[in-house]
Amino acid sequence: MSGNLPVVRFFRGKQIIGSANAEPETPLAEVADLAGVIIPTNCTSGNCGTCLARLISGDVEIPNPLPPGLDDFLVNEGGILTCCLFATSDCDIDVIPPL
Ligand code: FES
Repeated sequence: MSGNLPVVRFFRGKQIIGSANAEPETPLAEVADLAGVIIPTNCTSGNCGTCLARLISGDVEIPNPLPPGLDDFLVNEGGILTCCLFATSDCDIDVIPPL
């Protein structure tokens, strides 16, 4: 059973395309994988921005300083790097990036 793990729901625009529990130590791109949702990744280390998606609601830990693949503008638009960031509460995520 899944206990009290946060639930992450994935959307493409307004349409829900999957959901999964955020297992501990599992970056959001891998949670997406568990939900049957493919988020493309490349560097998996926060540098390239390939895995950029948009946080619609919920909490994702944003590192300080920001990884090279993020900037303040993107963060303000809800930008998250799914290869290396983690859900800390139930989250809705749009796989379409903010740009
Ligand atoms: S895959 Fe490069 S920043 Fe996430």
